[in-house]
Amino acid sequence: MLIKTETTIPSSEITGKSVFLSRRKFIQAAAGAATAVLSGGLLSTPARAAGKRYADVPQGPYSAQLPVTDLEYVANYTNYYEFTTNKEDSTRLAKVLPTSPWTVTVEGAAEKTGVFHLEDLLKNHPLQERIYRFRCVEAWSMVVPWIGFPLRDLLKRLRPTSRARFVEFTTLYDPKLMPGQRSSVLHWPYVEGLRINEAMHPLTLLATGMYDDPLPNQNGAPLCLIVPWKYGFKSIKAIVRIRLLQDMPKTAWNRSAPGEYGFYANVNPHVPHPRWSQRTELFNGYAEQVASLYTGMDLKKYF
Ligand code: MTE
Repeated sequence: MLIKTETTIPSSEITGKSVFLSRRKFIQAAAGAATAVLSGGLLSTPARAAGKRYADVPQGPYSAQLPVTDLEYVANYTNYYEFTTNKEDSTRLAKVLPTSPWTVTVEGAAEKTGVFHLEDLLKNHPLQERIYRFRCVEAWSMVVPWIGFPLRDLLKRLRPTSRARFVEFTTLYDPKLMPGQRSSVLHWPYVEGLRINEAMHPLTLLATGMYDDPLPNQNGAPLCLIVPWKYGFKSIKAIVRIRLLQDMPKTAWNRSAPGEYGFYANVNPHVPHPRWSQRTELFNGYAEQVASLYTGMDLKKYF
């Protein structure tokens, strides 16, 4: 069933005019720069901002050398349907979410499963050392310095078995806390998924912060998936469960509108969206890094 209301548009397609115009300016400024710099190695670490938790985190190997979008905009124009379909109100409404302590349950085709405390994962394990500053070119032209670690570092520790072909992620389900979950605007809880080779790609991050600080609640605290070559709806927020599966998981947006939101959701200008233009670069400028994941696949069919 196709959902026709504008509230189902997931990314920043419904964009205020001033925001749209300032983005256009940014796109023009950055045009041509993206592809050239993505594989350009480590960039210089920006000056340390005093008192900021992640200020010393170095830039990662795939960081894009592009002007970063204002934090003000990235943190105050968000999609968080568990709280609201209004992009400005989630900043205020998501404040009620208690993000510490936080547990992540791991299930399915892995040798190591169970309930993990996020604090333990980050503090008492080498994962902490792998957290790096990462500028990703978001679909719809936001450039956000995410702070995170490659998902694969976590998956390797969990030792997926040969039956693990997909990874499924689930957001907290708590309709008392999250008013949007009392409505049927989406299938709850929010679920997203990746094929195992996408999940193991070094560009796929679990973010715990952005800019120099921990993630704001409205941006997905305390744990959010970031897949820079895919549309924003893959970036599932507030992850409480990770399952390793043999079969492709059913994802929230795909269940709501399968004709519009495919499982792969790769940024692809050759697959027109029924309701808006997707004139961006293939794989969001990361083709060199990720195209081989899809060799032989018809990306128009598997969109
Ligand atoms: N995750 C959850 N749990 N709930 C949501 O509503 N929205 C998605 C994605 N992750 C969403 C979510 C969509 S549609 C987008 S475009 C991105 O988050 C937006 O990320 P941002 O709000 O940090 O810009």
